[in-house]
Amino acid sequence: MKVVIIGTGHVGLPIGVYLAEIGHDVVCVDKVETIIDSLNNGKITFLFEEGLEELFQRNFKSNKIKFTTSFSHVNDADVVIISVGTSKHVYNASTKLAEYLKGYTVIAIKSTVPVGCNDEIENLIAKVNPEADFDVVSLPEFLREGFAVFDSFNPDRIIIGTESERPISIIKELYGNCNKEKLFFVSRRSAEAIKYASNSFLAMKIHFINEMSDFCKEFNASIREVAEGMGLDKRIGDEFLTPGPGYGGFCFPKDTHEILNMAKNNGVNLSLIETTIKNNKNRMSKLSENILYETNKIKANKIAILGLTFKGGTDDCRNSPAITIINLLLKHFTYNIITYDPKGMKNAKNLLGNKVDYGKDVYDTVKGADVLVILTDWMEFKKLDLRKLKSSMNHHIIIDLRNMIDKNKALKLGFTYIGL
Ligand code: UDX
Repeated sequence: MKVVIIGTGHVGLPIGVYLAEIGHDVVCVDKVETIIDSLNNGKITFLFEEGLEELFQRNFKSNKIKFTTSFSHVNDADVVIISVGTSKHVYNASTKLAEYLKGYTVIAIKSTVPVGCNDEIENLIAKVNPEADFDVVSLPEFLREGFAVFDSFNPDRIIIGTESERPISIIKELYGNCNKEKLFFVSRRSAEAIKYASNSFLAMKIHFINEMSDFCKEFNASIREVAEGMGLDKRIGDEFLTPGPGYGGFCFPKDTHEILNMAKNNGVNLSLIETTIKNNKNRMSKLSENILYETNKIKANKIAILGLTFKGGTDDCRNSPAITIINLLLKHFTYNIITYDPKGMKNAKNLLGNKVDYGKDVYDTVKGADVLVILTDWMEFKKLDLRKLKSSMNHHIIIDLRNMIDKNKALKLGFTYIGL
């Protein structure tokens, strides 16, 4: 089939590459010329996703996927997928693409949009182009950043919201070669709501385990054991039970705020989501106070921070708890903060500038540091050479907000270890 994808970002590009890989002819559209130019030069410069490069090169070379800033390919598309960042951009993209529609076309809204937005998009397109023969379906995305390729090929489910039977055969053909058995057809508004409900629930689950880690610390229980014990109950599930500095990223903060706004505007009380949002933010302030307490105690001159991205496996620093905590520290700690992240330094520099220093690698970063703070769960932080750390640090305090370090090993080597 011919598929046009509007929005070639963290979702659009991986989905485009996936659909090309399973046999479709894909055209990815984006308004940012530099993105399209770099992709047409065979380079992915603006995001990092495990396994994407190889699939991209294969399909780019075999001409299965093309890139352009023009909407003209819409007129021979069977499916147009809109995967732009926010609902405002969805309206703009829909208005633009409407003029190019020719023949029956399924327009799939993959961007996360407020419940009811698909109805509005349908009316908008019909108004712009009364001749157009199309259906709008909701096709919410559940990709996790850093796992976009894996999640594309191994989705738990593919939710399609539709108000008519007509798009069903097209969507079945779209996923015909891969994951057709995962298709789950619901009403459009249900599909829009499933996205918000899922992300809000996951955010809440993370906040729950974060609060439970505070409880366990106070009562000398192990949050790792408690999470594992809880997770053995299939009704709870063993994922998203890892405590940390709070959730971040582009989606959880946006989606939890959006569903809360929708609810408040319509007199619905989503108390758990409201509490989650408020206390996820408070957690970062509380943790930065804890860090400052430790640095003041030893009159620290230098804090080394490992991790700037919102989670391991990505280069993305949007709404990163690490950046939030560093900014909170900078309000009170006027000495030297040096940071390191395997992939996120470029993006972090756009946010932190020269308010902090940037190390070349882990060991360069911790040299002479009094306190080491771990804020992002990069796997390489699980394998740090603690002896090497000990000999290159000035004071020996580790504040591990991702429970990456083996506590007993650190204590044996004479570190003061503070974990979750
Ligand atoms: C999320 C949803 O998982 C995905 O389905 C949706 O499509 C987009 O939003 P993403 O934002 O990429 O994906 O990140 P995710 O892996 O969900 O992590 C979100 C935040 O929660 C990160 O800050 C992460 O560090 C944190 N987290 C996650 C925890 O603190 N503990 C966990 O156990 C899991």
